[in-house]
Amino acid sequence: MPRADCIHQRDFAEPRIIVALDLASAGQALDLVDRLDPTRCRLKVGNELFVHSGPEVVKRLIDRGYSVFLDLKFHDIPNTVAGACRAAADLGVWMVNVHALGGKEMLEAARRAVGSDSQRPLLIGVTILTSHDTQSLGEIGLREDPSVVVDRLAELAQHTGLDGVVCSAQEAFGLRARFATDFLLVVPGIRALGAQADDQRRVVTPAAAVAAGADYLVVGRPITQAADPLWALSALEQEMYSARHRLDQ
Ligand code: C5P
Repeated sequence: MPRADCIHQRDFAEPRIIVALDLASAGQALDLVDRLDPTRCRLKVGNELFVHSGPEVVKRLIDRGYSVFLDLKFHDIPNTVAGACRAAADLGVWMVNVHALGGKEMLEAARRAVGSDSQRPLLIGVTILTSHDTQSLGEIGLREDPSVVVDRLAELAQHTGLDGVVCSAQEAFGLRARFATDFLLVVPGIRALGAQADDQRRVVTPAAAVAAGADYLVVGRPITQAADPLWALSALEQEMYSARHRLDQ
């Protein structure tokens, strides 16, 4: 399975859709992934599934041939975050993330902890959660426009050697213009053309996300709750590939 060695390629032949397994048990997660295909998608294990089922479920997903993004958004003192990142690397995950708000020292410690061999996990920063707005940022003392804070944190992530950031498609457009293509943009909030938005406030189509410069698209419910998850994945892939094709022309 391609891992850190693939990051300098913009090769859409490798799986670009990351399925968010926001599910309440290992059984549900394994039932679902047995209906998907590890050559067509990667998986994201977040807080809900990890708190329910722990590293064991991650190992079982990797054993089934999937690349796993461990989305636990570490944010603590540098030593503790470094330990957590080392544990994630030992677990064999493909991608892991930390909060860029943890600061330079914490990000550098995380970067050292994931190591430097070609099999190391990609290390991704979370800038500002898209659930924040200007008012809620002001309440925690960040009085600038959210986009200014996102830019600054993305720059810090890049300077400290992280491989990329999680961002909305709206943010991706500006970040892609600013950073080289090897700085990865991981974009959630994706919905097929005309699909329901669920509780996401702003959604974009796979085509719009790719056009904005996204490298990986995070998709949860449109696939996990579909009657035929592989069919739903194929439909999203199709939209993504057509956009890629248009951009390449
Ligand atoms: O089901 P849905 O496609 O909305 O799931 C999106 C996934 O992306 C969830 O796991 C959610 O936690 C994650 N995410 C997000 N918005 C962010 C960061 C992560 O929706 N800003």
